[in-house]
Amino acid sequence: MNTKVELAGIELKNPVMTASGTFGSGAEYSEMIDIGRLGAVVTKGVANVPWEGNPSPRVTEVYGGMLNAIGLQNPGVDVFIERDIPFLQKFDTKIIVNVCGHTVEEYIETVERLNDQPVDMYEINVSCPNVKQGALAFGQDPHVLEETVKAVKAAAKKPVIIKLSPNVTSIRDMAIAAEAGGADVISLINTLIGMKIDINRRKFVLANKTGGFSGPAVKPVAVHMVYEASHAVKIPVIGMGGIADADDAIEFILAGASAVSVGTMNFSDPETTIKVIDGIEAYMKKYHVEDIKELVGAVS
Ligand SMILES: Cc1cc2nc3c(=O)[nH]c(=O)nc-3n(C[C@H](O)[C@H](O)[C@H](O)COP(=O)(O)O)c2cc1C
Repeated sequence: MNTKVELAGIELKNPVMTASGTFGSGAEYSEMIDIGRLGAVVTKGVANVPWEGNPSPRVTEVYGGMLNAIGLQNPGVDVFIERDIPFLQKFDTKIIVNVCGHTVEEYIETVERLNDQPVDMYEINVSCPNVKQGALAFGQDPHVLEETVKAVKAAAKKPVIIKLSPNVTSIRDMAIAAEAGGADVISLINTLIGMKIDINRRKFVLANKTGGFSGPAVKPVAVHMVYEASHAVKIPVIGMGGIADADDAIEFILAGASAVSVGTMNFSDPETTIKVIDGIEAYMKKYHVEDIKELVGAVS
């Protein structure tokens, strides 16, 4: 039975990875799960300089998921290189660095700092709904997206994954624009924009007013978008949004994802990724699937 998948020439032992921002760089989770079993670790967003993030409260639970407005708080690429890369290198897994920025120049600066580091791929977050100066703007206009991807690709010495926003009119147009700009892989979905109001205080629950909506409730939206995007492009797609178990992951793969990421559910059950890996193998055995690639886009 073969669970290996290849993304832009990088071979993953299985298609299961973490979703950016829900796993840090793995330090806390390494006490609970064997990180070496993961296909890849996708890190929390890293910027050229430290970012403070948004004021609190920044997270709240909602039916079937959560809202977050962390605002991409991170210690910056220098700390990431000194502290997080050596930690992640201890495990037999691939390292995918999620990169955030306010401007194209900031993305490029971070990518250039990482180019000679032992990391496998970049995931460019052009789709965070919580950053004021407009990271989302890169991800909402196909022309701006294509130009952004071109500029990042020209600077990057590793394969580039472009992480798409679901907060768009046509996910197909965005996927096509990312591919036209030279993206090696696309990943989706980032969070949907949401809001929660405390009716007793008549106040917004989040200091940022809005937050990114994620968790099991978003899954049908995500599966549909993965289906649409994967049928619009030739490059591989990483699917995510509400994955809680192997059945969810297989749904994304059948919709057209070559690999999947587990996000919010890491918070309620830190073993979710491992259970997804085991469950995919059990599904393959049950249905006599020799190679996981047979399942990619196999819905009819
Ligand atoms: C607390 C939190 C922080 C996140 N931080 C990032 C981030 O830094 N970069 C990014 O691209 N996506 C970030 N995301 C989005 C997730 O990676 C993922 O795309 C989204 O949550 C949907 O998957 P899920 O429903 O499994 O969580 C974050 C999500 C959450 C819940």
